[in-house]
Amino acid sequence: MSTASRIRTISVSGNDLAVRVSTDEDPAEDSPILLPSLGEYPVYDDFSYEYMIADELRTEAYRAALRALAPGKVVLDIGTGQDAIWAVTAANAGATRVYAIEVIPDIAEKARQSVEAAGLTDKVTILEGLSTRITLPERVDVLVSEIIGAIGGSEGAESVLDDARRRFLKPGGASIPHRCVTTVAAVDTSTVLPAGDLAFSPLFLRDLEQIFASVGYPFDLRLCLLGLEQAEFLSPQAEVEDLCFTRPMPGEGVDDVDLPVTKAGRMHGLALGMRLWIMPEEDRPIDSLAQQTSWCPVYVPLSMDGIAVERDDRIKLKIRRSLSDDGVHPDYEITGRILRAGMSTVDIAWRSPHHGTTFRGSAPYRSLFPDPA
Ligand SMILES: C[S@@+](CC[C@H](N)C(=O)[O-])C[C@H]1O[C@@H](n2cnc3c(N)ncnc32)[C@H](O)[C@@H]1O
Repeated sequence: MSTASRIRTISVSGNDLAVRVSTDEDPAEDSPILLPSLGEYPVYDDFSYEYMIADELRTEAYRAALRALAPGKVVLDIGTGQDAIWAVTAANAGATRVYAIEVIPDIAEKARQSVEAAGLTDKVTILEGLSTRITLPERVDVLVSEIIGAIGGSEGAESVLDDARRRFLKPGGASIPHRCVTTVAAVDTSTVLPAGDLAFSPLFLRDLEQIFASVGYPFDLRLCLLGLEQAEFLSPQAEVEDLCFTRPMPGEGVDDVDLPVTKAGRMHGLALGMRLWIMPEEDRPIDSLAQQTSWCPVYVPLSMDGIAVERDDRIKLKIRRSLSDDGVHPDYEITGRILRAGMSTVDIAWRSPHHGTTFRGSAPYRSLFPDPA
């Protein structure tokens, strides 16, 4: 990442807000990029959509699953998107009927046009609205969705797909994807982030504006870091937030994690990712911390300078998720400590509500949103 940065201004509720961005307007394909976590907000931009559609690991796994499970079946696609990609794939694979739900009105309209262009209006019905508020005329055999977040459940998969399983899926029906877990590891970002101020990629200024507009005010939103390499990991990945979409899911939960430090370094924070099983019998899930995918790892900044850690230190974490007041998206909280034999401990605390009111609450956010006063 370029170390040079400058201040740009975005508009939030008619007021100017200063945002620090890197001067790198057109970063090389493999250079690290800091961006806001987008998927949990009603934000839709062509760049992110194309990036997701171009992710062949994702699209090929979904296509293969639909070719195997859709023929002769009634299918429901939740969050169909502008191309109604899985609804069209299911219909072309031989599904008898497909219902496809999309919450963003403009996108639902585009999805209707895509179904028309594919000549599939007799098979595919586009329904506009939030899946949790919609009723269907019949139960379905197969539920397909791609509302998996950068943190597995952050886009509301747990509450939305639990509701869909209860109200829409026939007993014994299939879900694509089948299971998702969130992963966590300690990271040293010395080689990917500048030592001084943090800066967003300028490509995401419009998204920041849209996220803050959707919530109504600026807040310390989750950060994603594209371009983390295995060399930056100081610990193995631990699994939390285990969601199996064909079983009841509680909507909230706490996981305890004990991460061994396997490499000495400076721990700047944690990376959160996800492992996704599209089909139940897959032995190699998609792994966003180990593979280059369209799911960017979330970066949990804990220390601008990094906390010195040594091999065999232990990082004990409690990771909580609770449903936010919108009834769909979880709030996340991580507390814990770094333990070293015979030494004092270092406490860790990160609160990341879906739409919290804390703004510029810690050094990384004061750097990203400099106060002009
Ligand atoms: C990540 S995009 C996926 C688009 C497409 N299905 C794909 O996989 O390429 C998620 C889409 O789901 C929509 N969405 C998310 N939750 C939804 C819900 N509960 N009901 C209806 N649409 C939803 C979003 O507006 C967005 O268009």
